[in-house]
Amino acid sequence: MIMKVFITRVIPEAGRRLLLDAGMTLTEWKEKRSLTAEELIEQCKEHDALLSASTTINAEMLEACTNLKAIALMSVGFDNVDLDAATKAGIPVSNTPGVLSGATADTAFLLMLATSRKAFYQHKKIAKGEWGFFEPTADLGIELNGATLGVFGLGNIGIEMARKCMGAYGMKVIYHNRNRNWEAEQKLNAHYVSFEELLAQSDVLSVHTALTPETKGKFDRAAFQQMKDTAIFVNTARGGIHNEPDLINALKDGLIWGAGLDVTNPEPMDANNELLDLPNVCVLPHIGSATVQTRDAMAQLAAKNILAGLAGKELPNIINP
Ligand code: DGY
Repeated sequence: MIMKVFITRVIPEAGRRLLLDAGMTLTEWKEKRSLTAEELIEQCKEHDALLSASTTINAEMLEACTNLKAIALMSVGFDNVDLDAATKAGIPVSNTPGVLSGATADTAFLLMLATSRKAFYQHKKIAKGEWGFFEPTADLGIELNGATLGVFGLGNIGIEMARKCMGAYGMKVIYHNRNRNWEAEQKLNAHYVSFEELLAQSDVLSVHTALTPETKGKFDRAAFQQMKDTAIFVNTARGGIHNEPDLINALKDGLIWGAGLDVTNPEPMDANNELLDLPNVCVLPHIGSATVQTRDAMAQLAAKNILAGLAGKELPNIINP
């Protein structure tokens, strides 16, 4: 029987090819806008599987699309999916862990370093014709050698970030997790600390956890107040984990030194957002995993999960077992 797969974005050929070679029929949403909730239901009602990139999947959709045998997310994050409703509807859902850890940690590292030297601000100054005379005390950055990296969420991506920071700058690693990661502690010589200690001791605090009811708005004014006024806050996980107005005020009031963000709340960020004008801030448009190699690997992994689901097997990366 021919199986039909709906894909919510144009994905790399490497993933499409796996599905086509397995005899699947593909319908791809090629418009440069997200599907509405109604359009998603309309499409998924007619399909056996859904390969979803950055698309909200709610209970109404899951209840309506009784044909769906598998949903593969082309992301590691799954905060935009009602997993309980998927389980209730009997639809297995998978994500793409591991394959994007290196690229996402690269983005966190890039933001840390760029923020520490005010790189985006300096770039903008040149573009505005403001490369003036040399001032030995103007727009100075801070160095990272021997600094303390605080990782909030020491999973695959947090571990990669820690490795890079240790290798490049001999940074000391502390972390806070819901559960201790004993293996990583041994490999990285990372020290587990309470959330309060993480805030107080980090020179760079990098967020690598999922957005959950527990982590939503975790970095608010009270948290920034406990950080060093020389600290850099980096978030490549989800914008909802920091409170954006509180972050803006913390930067303006000098509670922390700078911020590097790949994720904002909401996304896309408004072009008039105050963060874009602050000198010690670098913002990227959620490009953590955006390399050719990583996006190929993510598309392939998502396709493999779909193929397993349509063959009646357990999805290799199932997240609602
Ligand atoms: C992920 O994989 O979760 C990335 O943030 C893309 O959404």
